[in-house]
Amino acid sequence: MSLKKLDAALRRDLDALAAEGRAKAPERVLDGYQPAVGGRGPRWRVRGREGHFLRMNSNSYLSLGHHPRVLEKADAASAKFGAGPGAVRFIDGTFSDHVALEDRIARFVDKPAAKIFNSAYTSNLGLALAIQNESTYWIGDQFNHNCIIRAMRIANVPRGQKAIYRHNDLDELKQCLDAVPAAMKRVIVITDGIFSIRGDNAPLAEIHALIEPYRDRFEEGLVTVVDDSHGVGAYGETGRGTEEYCGTKADIVVGTFGKAFGVNGGFVAASEAVVETIRQKADTYIFTNSLSSADCAAACAAVDVADSEEGRERLRHLKERIAQFREGIGALGLESIEGPHPVVPVLVRDTTRCRAIVEGLFEDGILVTGLTVPVVPVGEETLRFQLNAAHTEADVEEACRALGRRMG
Ligand SMILES: Cc1ncc(COP(=O)(O)O)c(C=O)c1O
Repeated sequence: MSLKKLDAALRRDLDALAAEGRAKAPERVLDGYQPAVGGRGPRWRVRGREGHFLRMNSNSYLSLGHHPRVLEKADAASAKFGAGPGAVRFIDGTFSDHVALEDRIARFVDKPAAKIFNSAYTSNLGLALAIQNESTYWIGDQFNHNCIIRAMRIANVPRGQKAIYRHNDLDELKQCLDAVPAAMKRVIVITDGIFSIRGDNAPLAEIHALIEPYRDRFEEGLVTVVDDSHGVGAYGETGRGTEEYCGTKADIVVGTFGKAFGVNGGFVAASEAVVETIRQKADTYIFTNSLSSADCAAACAAVDVADSEEGRERLRHLKERIAQFREGIGALGLESIEGPHPVVPVLVRDTTRCRAIVEGLFEDGILVTGLTVPVVPVGEETLRFQLNAAHTEADVEEACRALGRRMG
């Protein structure tokens, strides 16, 4: 077989990963869903296991993935246009649902225009490909998501044209700004809005106050890019995300339909010029099929729900559950990183213990994520709980009880 030698080499790499404790566990397969009944929220079935599981590791913060309007719109779009687009956007693969979603998300985040992608991951890659030139300098937070790091690489940003500041450290951000070489004409400060591992947010108001005096220094501008994949829909008074929470607008927002909105796909929202540049230059937009019409119609419906009284009620309920869970872990004396986001980390600070607790909670019927090295630094091993709007008071009580037993 022609793969024999390659397979052998790859096996050696995989064995080394496992020996270093860096290999990912086999993936569990969810193969059933039970809607909420009585005081209990939805439960999931896991292939090969008895019982039903409470899912506390989903990004679907508003729990809209099963919303009747979202499903109905997806079905109607499939029936009308078929299951897939049949071509990339610029070769007659643009359907009315794509354009409608772009308009809808631009309005939701209050930007002049938006472009949609298959995911937030490819949105960041596409944005970097579109706006990078030979005199662009990038400055980013050390904990930015992997797709931002990859974006720098795919856009061939030279080593000397990027800098990293310590997480949310404004003094270091200032040092980075002061150190931008004189030849640079365009500076991009790029940060996650919500940091998915910690649930904390970038201090956008302070970042903007800091960079304001530098804005005139660069011929092609100094702009902020906020990847608010975990924030848009889930954070701030009406779910507008980190911008709303911090009371300030980023120049460019990247986001996803795959988290709070419970569907799939990503977007970049910005000025008309940025969006048209993406359409012309972003390979991850140009050379790949877009989302299906069903994805777009579902995402549009999810944004509509989020932007309604029902959506705001879901947000209020979610906030109550977050507060309840935080109170519960506080009463257990557990360590966390403070904040009102549905990502609630519980610091364990030990890999073996972290894994054992995740396994124990699984035995108790609770799905939760353990974050260990290399995802987090040594000593910051964490259980990441994610609350969502379908969780009930009883669900959160159940989770706290189980956590108390397992951490005790
Ligand atoms: C900051 C950030 N950006 C992008 C992504 C990826 O989102 P998507 O699944 O839409 O590609 C994530 C999620 O894991 C994220 O936390």
